[in-house]
Amino acid sequence: MKVIRTSNYGEMSRTAGELIIEKIRSNQQLTLGLATGSTPKGVYEYLISDHWQNGTSYKNITTINLDEYIGLRNDHPNSYHIFMRKNLFDLLDIPLAETFIPDGTADDLETECLRYENLIKEKGGIDLQLLGIGQNGHIGFNEPGTPFKSRTHIVTLAESTRQANSRFFPSFREVPAQAITMGISTIFESREILLLASGAAKAEAVARLINGDSDENFPASALKLHRNVTIIADEAALKLV
Ligand code: PGA
Repeated sequence: MKVIRTSNYGEMSRTAGELIIEKIRSNQQLTLGLATGSTPKGVYEYLISDHWQNGTSYKNITTINLDEYIGLRNDHPNSYHIFMRKNLFDLLDIPLAETFIPDGTADDLETECLRYENLIKEKGGIDLQLLGIGQNGHIGFNEPGTPFKSRTHIVTLAESTRQANSRFFPSFREVPAQAITMGISTIFESREILLLASGAAKAEAVARLINGDSDENFPASALKLHRNVTIIADEAALKLV
């Protein structure tokens, strides 16, 4: 794993943004794996301002998101469908039909998981997957204990994850208890992975990722076995390394 140390959130976002733009410019049909949460928002802002200033086009890009809550309609303000539209898709020239997010309202959720796996295959796999990291080491919504061989599946969210995400909801009670997430093996098959971390709250997780062993109780540590992972983190997130 390569580690790029940046001074703060802004520099982390710019560094990741520039790397993604370079990939898009060299492969206009890139399949880009995307993430939600606070961490990638600055990257998305960077991509949007570059798009308007420099004309980088997303017309032929495909995007595939990591996860979605179960039970929230796709037009619910807290759904990841709306997060992605508001923070990225509606502000680029990407056709919405080439943006994919699991459907957490599907009647048959097991079939939806299989459909998502097949979709990723049909799209030729993910060229570059963007990831955040949870304080408990989760990637996507793969909580500690998830087998490294897992494919897209239904998860019950850890209490700590629901607490962390309750900042986006009117109350903790309204945070869904379940989600659909790409599995660790699904994520691992991405040709390249870019993991971002910012702030002191992530310092323990980042230190364990960089210095610890590969262990299913710490999902992000699966990435230690991958050949093409770059961690871009700021000083605060790297302070225990
Ligand atoms: P965050 O979430 O970017 O909102 O900190 C990251 C994660 O939980 O994967």
